[in-house]
Amino acid sequence: MEREPVIETRELTKRYRGGQLAVDGLSLTVPEGAVFGFLGPNGSGKTTTIRMLMGLIEPTSGAARVLGRPMPRATRAVLPQVGALIEGPALYGFLNGRDNLIRYDSADPAADPRTRKARVSDALDRVGLTAAAGKKAKAYSLGMKQRLGLAAALLQPRRLLVLDEPTNGLDPQGMREIRTLVRELAADGTTVFLSSHLLDEIEQVCTHAAVMAQGRLLTQGPVAELAAGTRGRLTVTTPDPADAARVLKEHGITVLDLTGDLVTAEPPPAGTDLADLNTALVTAGVRVRGFGVERASLEDAFVALTGEGFDVAG
Ligand SMILES: Nc1ncnc2c1ncn2[C@@H]1O[C@H](COP(=O)(O)OP(=O)(O)OP(=O)(O)O)[C@@H](O)[C@H]1O
Ligand SMILES: [Mg+2]
Repeated sequence: MEREPVIETRELTKRYRGGQLAVDGLSLTVPEGAVFGFLGPNGSGKTTTIRMLMGLIEPTSGAARVLGRPMPRATRAVLPQVGALIEGPALYGFLNGRDNLIRYDSADPAADPRTRKARVSDALDRVGLTAAAGKKAKAYSLGMKQRLGLAAALLQPRRLLVLDEPTNGLDPQGMREIRTLVRELAADGTTVFLSSHLLDEIEQVCTHAAVMAQGRLLTQGPVAELAAGTRGRLTVTTPDPADAARVLKEHGITVLDLTGDLVTAEPPPAGTDLADLNTALVTAGVRVRGFGVERASLEDAFVALTGEGFDVAG
């Protein structure tokens, strides 16, 4: 029998008091064991959705189920099984990182006080904060605060982790560490739902994704399938880009972009032999350093879906 989705929403909608329609008829399905990327530009409704999933705000209409239970009605039963990092984690600035986690864990009635110290140390270690654990949280950088918030979500093993922009404020090395951590957690069987406005981040770590724009769901599914529906690109690297573009056009290929020594074009029509095209370039005197068809990225898919770039909504 198919397992029940870990998160399922039906026509979930949130209109804020000011009238802003932040989430509009969202129907999401997050399968068990997925690393599910919730992707959308700034203001597209990601945090609002996560707040509804966690029972922090009421939907205006529609329904959400988390771990098989209706939210927000079952908030008290569901939340102990969910580790969450939501935008701007609340910290006690006068406490150091370790004491923040001890305090956080003490407030959780389901947490075993006998294992508290060890669990706190493990969580600090997993997010790379051990060396900074004795520093007061008010002296933490944005990235360190983010790591501490993540550590709080990891104090107990959970069936589901909900991480709102977990790499926000992290440097590239920190982002890599978080990606590795997410993969490890998923390998342990935890379902991870993470939001991001970074397409390549989602592509690197997620098995599934949903794409939002202006409160509406554009598409969802396995990451490999999302990009597969979109055509890839032909790229030519050459010191003679203008000549290369001319030859491509002569072969009926639409050139999309010339930047430096890189020519980007629509993929050739089906049936075109890439070797013949390459030969045509070389015969015309184009010095070809690189040539090939790249697979469509999630960004290509997004642009194809919206007809626009991945920018902030108004
Ligand atoms: N408390 C609120 N009251 C009124 N409008 C709000 C509130 N919170 C968010 N909004 C609006 O709802 C829309 C969605 O915001 P939300 O924070 O959910 O987006 P997001 O996808 O999380 O964006 P970001 O990537 O910047 O975190 C935005 O237009 C925002 O201005
Ligand atoms: Mg947000």
